[in-house]
Amino acid sequence: MDIKKLKVLFTEEQIQSRIKELSDEMNAFYKGEEVYAICVLKGAVMFATDLVKNLNMPLKMEFIRLSSYNGGTTTSGKVNAVDISLPDLNGKNVLIIEDIVDTGLTAKFLLDFMNCNFHTKSTKFCSLLDKKIKRVTEVEPDYYGFEVDDKFLVGYGLDYDGYYRNLKYIGYSDKFPLE
Ligand code: IMP
Repeated sequence: MDIKKLKVLFTEEQIQSRIKELSDEMNAFYKGEEVYAICVLKGAVMFATDLVKNLNMPLKMEFIRLSSYNGGTTTSGKVNAVDISLPDLNGKNVLIIEDIVDTGLTAKFLLDFMNCNFHTKSTKFCSLLDKKIKRVTEVEPDYYGFEVDDKFLVGYGLDYDGYYRNLKYIGYSDKFPLE
């Protein structure tokens, strides 16, 4: 579990600077209208909290919890809604905040859930990372921070078996678990 074996993909400075750019775009888009920011736990927790600190409109945060991994480095292909209780979002601007879009199954699940349950004023999907090469759905994020290759990434919310979420940077290794 030696984190020195991780290679750094995005430094803390790169992440924070990209978040600033994304939030500038969002502040321009929403023009001061109220937003419901929905953080998808657990992976998006770091990104969501840093992002909303840079948003300048009236904003409420909601947290939902999904899971599709069973502790390894590949998706089970099935999205489980661990906790998806939300307030009435009819007529609201909804911004879903994810850590990474990989196959896109989670994003599709969430967007379908929103469509089935609410008539929102707007629904935007924002992901820090976009692993476009792995996509099996037609879903694309409205906002994303960085496009990434097909590597298993950890840090800044992303985990392997629950570990590494607390790193300030995003890193990778060809082999997990780290020895
Ligand atoms: P998707 O449903 O395949 O798009 O995967 C979305 C979820 O898989 C993300 O929210 C992450 O929790 C997890 N995930 C996908 N790729 C990675 C990765 O490289 N590292 C850690 N978690 C990942």
